[in-house]
Amino acid sequence: MAEPSLAKIAYQTLQQGKGLVGIAHKEISTKLMGFLVPEAIPDTSHITKELLFDLRKSIKDLEEIDWCDAERGLYPKNLLFEAPWIEWFFKYPLVWLDMPSTWSRRKDRNIQDLPHSINKEIYPDYYLQNFHHQTDGYLSDYSASIYDIQVEILFNGTADAMRRRVIAPLKTEINKYFPETNDSSLKILDLATGTGRTLQQIRSAFPKSELTGLDLSASYLKQASKYLNNGENELVQLIKGNAERVPILDQSFQAITCVFLFHELPGKARDNVIKECYRLLKPNGVLILADSIQLSDSPEFSSVLENFHRIFHEPYYKNYIKDDIDLRLSLNGFKCINSDSFFMTKVWSAIKA
Ligand SMILES: C[S@@+](CC[C@H](N)C(=O)[O-])C[C@H]1O[C@@H](n2cnc3c(N)ncnc32)[C@H](O)[C@@H]1O
Repeated sequence: MAEPSLAKIAYQTLQQGKGLVGIAHKEISTKLMGFLVPEAIPDTSHITKELLFDLRKSIKDLEEIDWCDAERGLYPKNLLFEAPWIEWFFKYPLVWLDMPSTWSRRKDRNIQDLPHSINKEIYPDYYLQNFHHQTDGYLSDYSASIYDIQVEILFNGTADAMRRRVIAPLKTEINKYFPETNDSSLKILDLATGTGRTLQQIRSAFPKSELTGLDLSASYLKQASKYLNNGENELVQLIKGNAERVPILDQSFQAITCVFLFHELPGKARDNVIKECYRLLKPNGVLILADSIQLSDSPEFSSVLENFHRIFHEPYYKNYIKDDIDLRLSLNGFKCINSDSFFMTKVWSAIKA
């Protein structure tokens, strides 16, 4: 077997480092919560040694495929190391300072602790909650400023590697269904783009294409704009709107991506988003969805999935992990539906018939 290159060792070391920080952070913060606010400790299932072993193996598999995709040129290798490291370093203390208010919401089961200044009428009801007990929900600059670090910690440093799983099917399907279209004529929409981490990954893979991101949170879009529109690359369009009713004309895009949204939507809203994707795609347009793994194809991780919605406020997760997304896609007109799972993320590809 060939020796791994220095770059690969650097990548593996970085991932191990992020993993250790994530584990240490969660261990210490859970102990602190147990000591200071024991009532906030959720009732969770025990994670066995065998399960831990499987989880570690599935992280390794994810990292291996991430590395291989970079090696075969699907995205540049420097993307594997990319993050606003200095900014994250200085913002990390905020994550700790934020914890007491998170614990208190968890203890009091307070799930609608949102900024008073927001106009509730412009958001769907399901959105007006503190998903994962997040301070201000998705509705403040403060929440947007620490979200990326929180997600990296939650997934032990694998969040971006999981988001990158959309790129391989995106490239394959675009090459298959739009072989004549060059990159600069491609229009790609990322729904529920949040702080723009997925768009950042997509832009590295499609640097000349016209990219658009949409999200309901102005604060998260501001954060995305800071990262994406820094004057160094092609401008990315960012639109505030509901993914169920996108203010864009029919058949505007060759491809749409949507990452980590569906588990935060009620079933009806998932259906509405799929319908919108169908409307917005050109014929043979490519839809790539990524979200949590589901019970049907990852039964070995069922206790991890159970724990997730016991620990975090995720009101639609229990329904999502049993939802038949393939059926929703095909009932709404999509064909060639495929899916694959990587660590905690499942990725679907589907084509507009
Ligand atoms: C878990 S975050 C995922 C963000 C991003 N895709 C990522 O990979 O980090 C969910 C995002 O969906 C957005 N969102 C939730 N419901 C939405 C809706 N109906 N329309 C548009 N965005 C929505 C939230 O504002 C938030 O930014």
